[in-house]
Amino acid sequence: MKKFALIFLSLMLIVISLASCTKKEEKTLIMATNAAFPPYEFMDGDKIVGIDAEIAEKIAEKLGMKLEIIDTEFNSIISGVQTGKYDIGVAGMTVTEARLKNVNFSDSYATGIQAVIVKEDSTYTSYEDFYTGFDDDGNPTGVVEGIKIGVQETTTGDIYASSDPVDWGFGEENVVRFKNGAEAVQALLTDKVTCVIIDNEPAKSFVGANEGLKILDGAYTEEDYAIAISKEKTELLADINKALAELKADGTLDEIIEKYIPSK
Ligand code: ARG
Repeated sequence: MKKFALIFLSLMLIVISLASCTKKEEKTLIMATNAAFPPYEFMDGDKIVGIDAEIAEKIAEKLGMKLEIIDTEFNSIISGVQTGKYDIGVAGMTVTEARLKNVNFSDSYATGIQAVIVKEDSTYTSYEDFYTGFDDDGNPTGVVEGIKIGVQETTTGDIYASSDPVDWGFGEENVVRFKNGAEAVQALLTDKVTCVIIDNEPAKSFVGANEGLKILDGAYTEEDYAIAISKEKTELLADINKALAELKADGTLDEIIEKYIPSK
């Protein structure tokens, strides 16, 4: 009889601890980002702030969850979302066909343009100057000797820049990859690269924060930003899209963006 009671008691304990575990998991929405991408995400002291952090905060609120933000390498966000280590990836992340093979994306909440940053005294006026010539269809045929394109590894800037000139890339061999945008910009400031290709708002932030840099005219590409979610979490995807739609409709989204990217 005593034995029975003991087994019963320990079973109860296991059930209770399991229940409290899953309950805690339900309550916290774990967001992965790469916080060197102002104004979408950056460090303010030891706090991660920015457009993405605030949008995620509002979404978590609507879902009745507590937001926890984890700063990691951009590179590991998608895989972490896939394995369930993170619930969502919010990192000014562009929706691409390749990424859609691994994760779902929410509805888009912002757009981005790839911009080209050079030193202020650069003789280049457009990224088209990085090419030696163009074929009859107007596609580039080669890259100027010695051009080094700085990018943040595995971003869309990296993917486009690494493609062949005929696809308006600069060739793998002319691309230098950095862990984050800030490091790429440091390399530009010390003349280790000719330019940095990065999303336009971070580009503006970096140019604003550092002397001697400018953005070349002309958009390199246009893209949509969205939240990455595991393909298995379809309910979460629906809930997030619903929350996003509400935040768009009531002006909250615009307010957050306006706070970090004032329209005047
Ligand atoms: N939009 C680009 C991409 O999806 C760059 C995003 C980089 N984001 C970041 N938080 N570092 O590849």
